[in-house]
Amino acid sequence: MSSDTIHNVTVSMTVNGRGHTVSCQPRKLLSDALREDLHLTGTHVGCEHGACGACTVLVDGAAVRSCLLFAAQMNGADITTVEGMANPDGSLNTVQQAMQDCHGLQCGFCTPGIVVTLTAFLRDHPDPTDHEIRVAISGNLCRCTGYHGIVNAARQAARGEPASSVEAQSSESQSSESQKLESQS
Ligand code: FES
Ligand code: FES
Repeated sequence: MSSDTIHNVTVSMTVNGRGHTVSCQPRKLLSDALREDLHLTGTHVGCEHGACGACTVLVDGAAVRSCLLFAAQMNGADITTVEGMANPDGSLNTVQQAMQDCHGLQCGFCTPGIVVTLTAFLRDHPDPTDHEIRVAISGNLCRCTGYHGIVNAARQAARGEPASSVEAQSSESQSSESQKLESQS
């Protein structure tokens, strides 16, 4: 069957607080609809099969991979992309500011997915342990940072600690890990 014979579906959804109606093929991915139809290119597409987390958005408050959803499933949904994460006055939200302060990004490709994931995670877990933070971002792959900056950012966002204190704690914890490893060798 050629794509010409597949009828478009009409989807009405709220994205970043604004109503949108999209006409698209039933097989169109949510990630593609956001990027191509709504021009919200902050949602990045890495693997397109649910492995990297770059395409994470909030759907009705839950962090989900938009490459694993069809746009046609989103009728009536309330979606927030990274473009909708800033504060109402346009300033960076707590997680975004912490990512900047703690050098939680380099190339930035994974960053939208991580900001969305951490924003939802910290909303539900306001005082996480480091282990919980690492588990929370374990579905978001970053090829640049080594993750320490991202974990520091999550700590700062959760605890309101300044970047310098977070970095000091991180060095202490890394140094204690090294001592443990040395004592075991
Ligand atoms: S692009 Fe969706 S998980 Fe990688
Ligand atoms: S900052 Fe480059 S992939 Fe994460």
